[in-house]
Amino acid sequence: MTTAIAKVGRLAVVGIGPGRLGWCTPEVADRIASATDLVGYTTYLDLVAVATDARRHGSDNRVEAKRAAAALDLAAAGRDVVVVSSGDPGVFAMASAVVEQLDRSPGKWDHVPVDVLPGVSAAHALASRVGAPLGHDFCTISLSDVLKPWDVIERRLDAAAGADFVIALYNPTSRHRPWQFGRALEVIGEHRTPDTPMIVGRDVGRPDEHVQVVTLATCETAAIDMRTAVIIGSSTTRVVPGRPLASSVYTPRWYDRSATHATA
Ligand SMILES: C[S@@+](CC[C@H](N)C(=O)[O-])C[C@H]1O[C@@H](n2cnc3c(N)ncnc32)[C@H](O)[C@@H]1O
Repeated sequence: MTTAIAKVGRLAVVGIGPGRLGWCTPEVADRIASATDLVGYTTYLDLVAVATDARRHGSDNRVEAKRAAAALDLAAAGRDVVVVSSGDPGVFAMASAVVEQLDRSPGKWDHVPVDVLPGVSAAHALASRVGAPLGHDFCTISLSDVLKPWDVIERRLDAAAGADFVIALYNPTSRHRPWQFGRALEVIGEHRTPDTPMIVGRDVGRPDEHVQVVTLATCETAAIDMRTAVIIGSSTTRVVPGRPLASSVYTPRWYDRSATHATA
């Protein structure tokens, strides 16, 4: 007599990096190549540059919880599932949506192994294009007030700028959120001088990449969209005169203990 053994699949939440194949880790590429099913926001599935015959389950970017549950169900049914995020899957992306589903339904997917495989986040990719602006303490803040209230965002911007962090901004603006980026610059500007270096990167690592070093005073808010990430320097971030873009900005590792680095 043979006993039927239920086939159990597995699930990985992966980050494919900001776009170019060379910035997708070998671990992520291997997992995508062996997957039976790819799940994700359709735009990100279209960016997968790894050769694969996996079945694609694309969806709108506003259905994260539903997508996470559907991916877990597929894995529970024996499929080898990869949930695709851009950049790193743990940064404003699908890893927390998947783990939240596990938390919300105790026991439901206990038998499904779940891995999170890291990727190159947009801020790190953008920083690399100009040198080392993230060389000292930094934080990342999403300006999207779809999932959190604007007053929380404004308090965090104020606190981060007041504490002299380098600040990387994600989700800076969209058609439905037209004023938030301009307001964010005003809040940060209360703690920084107008000549503070800013790095603006659109489609970093993709064929239409555009990266610019500007200042808090000269940044054109009209040039910013959802495919843009922004890094705003701290009081110690510097532009090296005469250097090519790729090695032109840095934040020193040290901090002058005698200076106040006045932030209001
Ligand atoms: C939902 S978040 C996803 C972040 C992603 N998980 C990461 O780690 O990069 C989307 C935001 O990331 C930033 N972003 C992602 N890819 C980018 C790229 N190639 N160039 C510039 N910004 C990018 C933009 O600010 C965009 O609005």
